[in-house]
Amino acid sequence: MDSSGIIGHSAVMRQLLDQIALLARSDVPVLIEGESGTGKELVARALHRWGRRRECPFLAINSGGLTDSLLESELFGHQRGAFTGAYAEKPGLVEAADGGTLFLDEVADLSAAAQSRLLRVLQEGEILRVGSVDARCVDVRILSATHKCLEEEVARGRFRHDLLYRLRVVVVHVPALRERPEDIPALTRHFLGKHAPENPPVLERQTSLLLKSYPWPGNVRELENEVRRAISLLGDGTAICPGLLSERVREQGDRLRTRGSLKERVCRYEALVIRETLDRYGWNKTRTAVALGVSRQSLIRKVSLYGLRGP
Ligand SMILES: Nc1ncnc2c1ncn2[C@@H]1O[C@H](COP(=O)(O)OP(=O)(O)O)[C@@H](O)[C@H]1O
Ligand SMILES: [Mg+2]
Repeated sequence: MDSSGIIGHSAVMRQLLDQIALLARSDVPVLIEGESGTGKELVARALHRWGRRRECPFLAINSGGLTDSLLESELFGHQRGAFTGAYAEKPGLVEAADGGTLFLDEVADLSAAAQSRLLRVLQEGEILRVGSVDARCVDVRILSATHKCLEEEVARGRFRHDLLYRLRVVVVHVPALRERPEDIPALTRHFLGKHAPENPPVLERQTSLLLKSYPWPGNVRELENEVRRAISLLGDGTAICPGLLSERVREQGDRLRTRGSLKERVCRYEALVIRETLDRYGWNKTRTAVALGVSRQSLIRKVSLYGLRGP
């Protein structure tokens, strides 16, 4: 089975992948929850690709991006003359996805009218085009995603509770990136290869440390953008130094470095400098010692004191 492009070896992500593999075999609607940029759409695609509907279309629409009436006709289609500008009859995405999967991103943003049409699809397997009274049968698996709390939307009267229960027969939660920092190195390597395929740059040790300690409020999407930014600033270089990271990523890491007693901070910094220099000289201890102006013995002592290990 292909991985559907989902990178992540942390325990939570492995669990998520197992869950996806299981759910891909069924037809139940799945609600995918998680902060923006965590990979909800990738999860939806995997649910489709690993299931029996894989030969049929996977169609995705972001409910947040369109006006209410446009979204409604995009999704459900319309009859000729249903509204000004509806010159021809047109099927919507639900019909176009027949046999396959429809992914409704930002489902909380669906208008009341669109919500009731969607409920009909889920309950009866039937669709009504805008302006039409003839129902048509459709066989579509509905996957949806939101970064909002739908219960709250229901409590505020903005979302139908009967629709909520239909959509979230199963809920899948995609964890925020800060809850799984161990995935950051693999994701970073993946994006370096994706955006600089000819000659993927490497990261200086300090850069990796900063990337791993930053909390990534924009999740994987923000990490990918950070990597692209660094690549574009790299020029002819081959290693990404901390200077190529954006200020907020560097500052956050600095804040981390400014914790602890003077002795602890100095030691952390010393270990960092030694590690960077070893990296630069391919872990040749003689050349590293010369570059740092210390004896070889003293360098070896510190390497073992700080538990530094080569590639
Ligand atoms: N686990 C992952 N492995 C590889 N790429 C990922 C992963 N999670 C997210 N991405 C990438 O990050 C970006 C945002 O993902 P997306 O699925 O659109 O997030 P969401 O729908 O939760 O906002 C996409 O370019 C996606 O390919
Ligand atoms: Mg998305």
